[in-house]
Amino acid sequence: MREAKDPGRGRLAGKVALVTGAGPGLGGAIAAALAAEGAKLVVCDIAPEALDTTRSRLAAMGAEALALPCDVSDSAAVDAMFARAAERFGTVHILVNNAARVPNAPAEEARRNRHYQYLTTPMPRQALDMVASLSDDDWLKWWGVNMHGVFYCTRAALRLMTPQRAGKIVNIASIAGLGTGSAHSPGYSATKAGVISLTKTTALDVAGANIYVNAIACGGVLTPPFEEDLARASDEQKQRLYQMLPLGRIGRPEEYASLAVYLASDEHYLVGQVISPNGGLLM
Ligand SMILES: NC(=O)c1ccc[n+]([C@@H]2O[C@H](COP(=O)([O-])OP(=O)(O)OC[C@H]3O[C@@H](n4cnc5c(N)ncnc54)[C@H](O)[C@@H]3O)[C@@H](O)[C@H]2O)c1
Repeated sequence: MREAKDPGRGRLAGKVALVTGAGPGLGGAIAAALAAEGAKLVVCDIAPEALDTTRSRLAAMGAEALALPCDVSDSAAVDAMFARAAERFGTVHILVNNAARVPNAPAEEARRNRHYQYLTTPMPRQALDMVASLSDDDWLKWWGVNMHGVFYCTRAALRLMTPQRAGKIVNIASIAGLGTGSAHSPGYSATKAGVISLTKTTALDVAGANIYVNAIACGGVLTPPFEEDLARASDEQKQRLYQMLPLGRIGRPEEYASLAVYLASDEHYLVGQVISPNGGLLM
């Protein structure tokens, strides 16, 4: 297990980082990677057991961390979380907007299979009805977490970062927001495209205050939802998936977390950029 660096050492020594959706998936891996570089951590998640996993992980590393339950789709809850963070650590220097509703539930899996079948079945073709069958409630849930949550957290973070003229915001988007790879989940793809757009708009807005905003448009990440997907998939489905990937494998959370650390550091000149680690799936 990696250890948190002694205070005063590491690329992020003296920095306070807040990571949303910091459960056992990518968020927890990013929180651990930031702590390994000396950052103090504020981690939040809507699911208490997910948050506990990361709290224990950070404690085992010897990291200084505050774990707060929070639903990022609730703006008052987000403001209260940032107030607690500022009360404990004085400010926030780094925000990683990672929390999301992800399209890996079994119902979504059935829709994805329908999409893959469509791509590999000869004509005549017919509508997939992914958009026509989407309910208001489902549509709004995608926006509530994936888009409003990113906005609420970004706004609250900027209120701390702008006066101090320093900050790094890393938005976790998806390859689904860049291409058509996730047509089975229009709500997910549309909100992740929205995150990419908000990244650029915000970057332009605050670069003059020395705040750097960038996005990571992840390809496949081997996190618990993806592992559950693979466990349900047939051998043929898995082969089809690996064949689509030039690297022939899914990315590990640590391979994405190292990029988040870099974007959170003072070692680059990147503003408003969307970097997509995806094993070569989209070039
Ligand atoms: N795993 C992949 O293949 C993949 C691919 C592309 C993008 N991503 C992105 O990576 C990020 C992490 O995904 P993951 O694979 O680790 O999934 P995950 O489901 O393990 O992680 C998402 C976390 O967000 C939390 N969350 C959900 N709603 C929330 C809310 N309203 N408030 C606070 N927390 C909330 C969940 O409890 C969970 O712990 C997401 O932004 C996802 O869109 C993942």
